[in-house]
Amino acid sequence: MTSVREHWQNVYAAKTPEEVSWHQQTPRLSLELIARAGGGSEASVIDIGGGASTLVDHLLKAGYRDITVLDIADAALDHARARLGADAARVNWIVADITARKPSRQFDIWHDRAALHFLTAPAAQHAYAEALCTALEPGGAAIIGGFAPGGRTKCSGLDVVQHDAESLSALLGDEFALIDAIDELHLTPSGAEQPFRFHLFRRRVSA
Ligand SMILES: C[S@@+](CC[C@H](N)C(=O)[O-])C[C@H]1O[C@@H](n2cnc3c(N)ncnc32)[C@H](O)[C@@H]1O
Repeated sequence: MTSVREHWQNVYAAKTPEEVSWHQQTPRLSLELIARAGGGSEASVIDIGGGASTLVDHLLKAGYRDITVLDIADAALDHARARLGADAARVNWIVADITARKPSRQFDIWHDRAALHFLTAPAAQHAYAEALCTALEPGGAAIIGGFAPGGRTKCSGLDVVQHDAESLSALLGDEFALIDAIDELHLTPSGAEQPFRFHLFRRRVSA
């Protein structure tokens, strides 16, 4: 049986970053929510399951200096590093399964577009939430996007979980306050429509 890592390695070996259905030239909503999270370009950001996303390019352009991209597939990160050239050295790259390894430091902003939604097993979802709790500063923001309720149930041939404010609030617990939930219609490179929903949470600062 193909492991999760092998699945993603194969995907990024078979397709260019511009061919995958989730490709965005400009991740507009992610950038808006990261700006809303606060801290300006001084904020530290980790992109969970960042893959070959162009988010890192846009954050570098916007002046962010503390950027980490984590993904289970080094083939995905290779694409992003090749695209960035010398600028790749300004980014921290981590090859890891987020359900198996917690980031070793804390960040102001946790961003995830379409990574959590692949975690269908409750144990994997809880491991993800634990990693988030370990890696997010009190007062920090978590931005989590995935297929919207009622939308597609598979992505890249894998089953996905469609989260909403209720399921994410239950997963993250009382320490996290929901700030906003925003729908976005993603157009795939082949022109198909994919409804996404993004959630912005703030981690409470305990008294
Ligand atoms: C649909 S892609 C989205 C990529 C990127 N966030 C974007 O919006 O372009 C999902 C990404 O999550 C990564 N991924 C899947 N499961 C993961 C896990 N358990 N830990 C870390 N990364 C994972 C995959 O390798 C892939 O790059």
